[in-house]
Amino acid sequence: MAAANGKTRLNGPLRYAHITGWGMAVPETVMTNDDLAAIVETNDEWIRSRTGIRERRIANERESSATLGYKAATAALEVADVLPMDIDLIVVATSTSEHVFPSTANRIQDWLGASKSGAFDLAAACAGFVYAVNMAAQSIRSGSINTALVIGAETMSRVVDWNDRSTCILFGDGAGAVVLQGSDQEGGVLSAVLRSDGAGHDLLSIPTQNVRELNGHRLGKMSMHGGEVFKFATRVVDESIRQVSQDSGITLNEIDLIIPHQANYRILQSAARKLGLDMDKFVSNLDRYGNTSAASIPIALCEAIEQGRIRKDDHLVMVGFGGGLSWAAMTVRWGIPEPSSLQANPLNRQRRRAVYALARIRARWNRLRRAWSNILRWSNPRNIRLMRLRRRANREKLP
Ligand code: ACO
Repeated sequence: MAAANGKTRLNGPLRYAHITGWGMAVPETVMTNDDLAAIVETNDEWIRSRTGIRERRIANERESSATLGYKAATAALEVADVLPMDIDLIVVATSTSEHVFPSTANRIQDWLGASKSGAFDLAAACAGFVYAVNMAAQSIRSGSINTALVIGAETMSRVVDWNDRSTCILFGDGAGAVVLQGSDQEGGVLSAVLRSDGAGHDLLSIPTQNVRELNGHRLGKMSMHGGEVFKFATRVVDESIRQVSQDSGITLNEIDLIIPHQANYRILQSAARKLGLDMDKFVSNLDRYGNTSAASIPIALCEAIEQGRIRKDDHLVMVGFGGGLSWAAMTVRWGIPEPSSLQANPLNRQRRRAVYALARIRARWNRLRRAWSNILRWSNPRNIRLMRLRRRANREKLP
C-alpha cells in the first residue's frame, strides 16, 4: 500500500500533516550486558559485537506500556502546546498492552483527560509506529480530524523469555510520542510504504491463546528465528527506503536523516552499504536502549531533535520492520521551526496540568463510586439471601 505526495484535497484547501510535538520516556533502571551475563550464558563482548547493544532500560513493577506512553505523550503535548481536549485521535503502536481490551490508548486517553478523542491500539510489531503515523496523517489529510497523538510504547521485558539468550539480550522498554497537526503549509508526511509478508508469521511471534502448535514456545513469551529475521531485515530496509523516497520525489542523496527501527547495528550498516549512504545519515541509539520495538523510532526521533540533527525543510525517512512479518517506511519534510524557538504558552501549560489533575481525580472518584455501588448491591436483602443460599448449596455438596 503506498500513499504518495502527502496531500489530499476534498472540498477545501490542500491539507498536510505535520509533526508539531515530540516526547519520550524510558525507565530509570539500566540493565547492562554484564547484568545479563549473570542471568543467561552470554557476555558483553558477544552482545556488543553481534548487535551493538551495551545496555537497555527495564520497567519497574509500577511502570507499564501505558504509564511510559502517558509520560511521552505529556512531553509531546507540551512541545506542540496542544491541550488534551483538542486531540481528535490517539493511536498507540504496541505489542505489550496489559489488556487485549481496554487498549493502552484508552488508558492514556483517560489519564490525559482527552475527552473528545477516539483511541485505539495498532499491532504491527516494530513497524507499528510508522503504520500508526501514516493512519493518523491520512485522517488529517482527508480533513476528518485535525490533531492526532501517536505513541509507540513497549514493555518488552514482560514478554521476553529470560531463559532464551538469543532474544532476551536484544530488547528493552520505553516509549516515544508525536503530535501531528493539519496545516495548509506544504510538507510534513510526504509518502509511506506499508508492507506485510504473513508467510513469515512463525519467524517472530508471541503466542497468546488457542495456539495448537506451540513447538516448545511459551504462551505470552517471544520466540524468534534471529538469523531468518536478520536476512529479512537486511533485504527490506534498503528496498523500502528506495521506494518511499522515489514515491515522494526525492533522491537518496536528498535524504537528510534516516531514523530506522533499532534492532541491530549490523542491519543498519548493511542498509547504509546497499544504499551507498554514509552511516552518519542513520540515527542509532541502540547501544543505550536496545530494541524497544514500536517505541524505538519515536525515541530515536526525539534524541535526534534534541541533538540538533533535524532542521526545517530536512527530508527524514523513518523505517520499521519486524513481527508479522511487517515493514513500513515513510518520508517526512520537517515543517516546523527548530526546537529552541518553540515556547509553550505558560497559560496553556497550567491548563494542561489542571486537566491531568482533574482526570486523576475523576478516575479515583469513579473507582470509589463503583466500590460504593458494589457495597450497596451486596447489602441489598435479596442479594444477602442469594449469597446465603449459594453458601448453603456449596456446604451441602460437601461429603
Ligand atoms: N551470547 C552468547 N552466544 C550466543 C548468544 C548470546 N546471547 N545468543 C546466541 N549465541 C550463540 C548461538 O548459540 C550460536 O552458537 P553456535 O554457533 O555454537 O550454535 C552463535 O552464538 C551464533 O548464533 P546466531 O544466532 O547465528 O547469531 P547471529 O550472529 O545471527 O546473531 C541475533 C543473533 C543478534 C539475534 C541476530 O540474528 C539478529 O539481530 N537478528 C535480527 C533481530 C531483529 O532484527 N529483530 C527485529 C524485529 S523485533 C520485533 O519485531 C519485535
